[in-house]
Amino acid sequence: MGMFFKTLFKNTKISTKFNLFVILIFIIGILLSGSTFWIALEQRAEAEVSSKALVLMETMNGVRSYTQDRIKPLLKERLETESKFTPEAVAPFSAREVFEYFRKNPGYENFIFKNAAPNPTNLRDQADEFETKLVKEFQNQPSSEKNGWRDFSFGKAFYTARPIVIKKPSCLECHSTPDIAPKSLLATYGTKHGFGWKLNDIVAAQIVYVPAEEIMASVRRSFVMTLGILIGTFLLIVFSLNFLLKRTVIQRIQKIAKTAQAASLGDMKADFEEDSKDEIGILAMAFNRMKYSLEVAMKRLNPRERN
Ligand code: HEC
Repeated sequence: MGMFFKTLFKNTKISTKFNLFVILIFIIGILLSGSTFWIALEQRAEAEVSSKALVLMETMNGVRSYTQDRIKPLLKERLETESKFTPEAVAPFSAREVFEYFRKNPGYENFIFKNAAPNPTNLRDQADEFETKLVKEFQNQPSSEKNGWRDFSFGKAFYTARPIVIKKPSCLECHSTPDIAPKSLLATYGTKHGFGWKLNDIVAAQIVYVPAEEIMASVRRSFVMTLGILIGTFLLIVFSLNFLLKRTVIQRIQKIAKTAQAASLGDMKADFEEDSKDEIGILAMAFNRMKYSLEVAMKRLNPRERN
C-alpha cells in the first residue's frame, strides 16, 4: 500500500501532487474546524434557551409564592362556603393561568408551562408519557432539576423541570382523601383524581418548555454561511496558487525541457531565453552556458563542420 502511493506520488505531475496535498490538508482542517464550530454554536444555542427556561421557571415560582402567601389567605373562607371551588387560591393554578396570558404574546405561542402530575386534580395537568417518566425519574433519583430536549409538532423544545414535593401537611387537606377535602373541591373536580398523595411524595413536575426551532435555524444559518466562506476562500487560494505555480514554475520548466530536447537533437539555435533572475532564470542561464560550451566542444571535435 505504502509502496503504491510512493510510486503513484513519484509519477504524478507537480500540480497534482501540490493539489492533492493542499486538498487533503483542507479537508482535515474543514472537518476539525467545522465540527468544533458546530459544537460551539450548539452550546451557545442551548445556553440561550436554557437561560430563558430558567428565568420563566423562577418567574412562575414567584407567582406561586405570591398566590400562596397573599391570595390564598384572602380566599380561604370562600373554599369552605362557596359551592364551587375557587382555583385562584391554588398556587399551581395561578402559575399556569399567568403563563397562559404570557403565551398570548406574539412569538410566545409555543412556550409551554405545565404542572405535570401523573394523578392530577385538574385533568389539564395530566402528565403525558414523557412527563410521567420525568416524574418517575425524580422519584427514583432525587434531584432538584432536570434539563433536556423534547420533540414537538412545532419542532424541538428545551425543557427545564423541577419536582413538586408535598412538604406541608396542609397540602393533604385537599390531596389525601376525598372525605376530608372541601366540599367545593369535590363538587368541581370530583373524587377520582388528585387524591392519595402523601407527605414527602413527589407528585408532579413543574416544567417549562422553550421552543428552540428559531435559534437552531439561526445556528444552522451561521454554520452554513461560515463554512461557505471558508470553502470559497479555499477555492480562491487553490486557484490562485495553481495559476502562480503554472506561470512561475511549470510553464517555464516545460519550455526549458523542450529547448533542451531540441538542443540534444542538434538544434543549436534553440535558446533557453530567460529574462528573470529567480531560481528558474538562473537554471536557464546555466543551461545556455552549458549549450554554448557544448557547441564549442563539438566544433573542436569536428573542425570540418565549422562554418
Ligand atoms: C384547598 C385545597 C388545596 C390545598 C390545601 C392544596 N391544593 Fe394542590 N390543588 C388543589 C386544586 C383544586 C388543584 C387543581 C387546580 C386547577 O384547577 O388547576 C390543585 C393542583 C395542584 C397541583 C397541580 C397538579 C394537579 O393536581 O392538578 C399540584 C402539584 C398541587 N396542587 C400541589 C399541592 C401542594 C404541594 C400543596 C401544599 C403546599 C397543595 N397542592 C395544597 C387544591 C389544593
